[in-house]
Amino acid sequence: MHKAIALIVLVVFGSVAAHTRKINAQPSHIQRVASSLKQESNGIDWCPQCVNTFDQLIYYVLDGILELGIINTCDDICNYVTEKSGSPVLYAICAVGCDALGINEFIKIAKEVDLDPIYFCESLKVCPIFDSGDAKFKSFVILPPHAPVYSTFVIDFAYESMNGTGTGQLVVSIQTIDGVELSTTLLIEPQKPGRYAERISVDASPDPDCDPAAQQCEEWFPGVYNVTVMVCNGECGSHHPHSQIYDTVKGSFQID
Ligand SMILES: *[C@@H]1O[C@H](CO)[C@@H](O)[C@H](O)[C@H]1NC(C)=O
Ligand SMILES: *[C@@H]1O[C@H](CO)[C@@H](O)[C@H](O)[C@H]1NC(C)=O
Repeated sequence: MHKAIALIVLVVFGSVAAHTRKINAQPSHIQRVASSLKQESNGIDWCPQCVNTFDQLIYYVLDGILELGIINTCDDICNYVTEKSGSPVLYAICAVGCDALGINEFIKIAKEVDLDPIYFCESLKVCPIFDSGDAKFKSFVILPPHAPVYSTFVIDFAYESMNGTGTGQLVVSIQTIDGVELSTTLLIEPQKPGRYAERISVDASPDPDCDPAAQQCEEWFPGVYNVTVMVCNGECGSHHPHSQIYDTVKGSFQID
């Protein structure tokens, strides 16, 4: 019964929540420009919702475990999460995940604090598991090879899967001259066998709104910037089950 209510709540409020998240997101130098991955078009897709709200859900669940003391039912914990967070999306994922696992297992999993979002959402049976997947990079090009600061570099790559892929990630990371960590992580939902292309842009412009007192600000000094792209089952580098780095590819561009 939870699931039916949760689904209705999620459909009504899901898009509002997704919209709010975007506004709060930090601007990034690295952006996805185009992708040939299939996007779910009918209804709300639970898996990205779960992965995106993981930090908040875990926070409120752990808080509830401490505050409530005795937790007998999924309602106990999920009502607490809803009250404290005010988020129907968190309620929906809590209710669906807890119903699927049972309250004891749900609490046990939530307490594994180093959990990665994909493993967690797979455990809740919200994201599908597929462990005989594979992917190999078939092309990788960064253009232009060199350009002055304030330029935009475009990274084009494609990978091919023979068996299809599990719920996983693409991670694009750039080693910068001033040591600022630049990376972006894209969720990839399970894909059928095939060839998939991605286009990523890198805006090599110092961010005028970046406050060096509050965060690291990339300056885009002249030099060679190494780029690494990984395609993975589960979270890249995770030691949890259903995790594997399918393939890695490296390249570079230069700021003159
Ligand atoms: C792909 O699928 C086949 C048949 O199911 C299996 O034997 C093979 O191990 C799979 N490949 C990988 C990389 O898991
Ligand atoms: C990029 O890689 C090269 C060789 O792999 C290395 O010598 C260089 O230090 C790397 N650049 C940065 C900015 O880390």
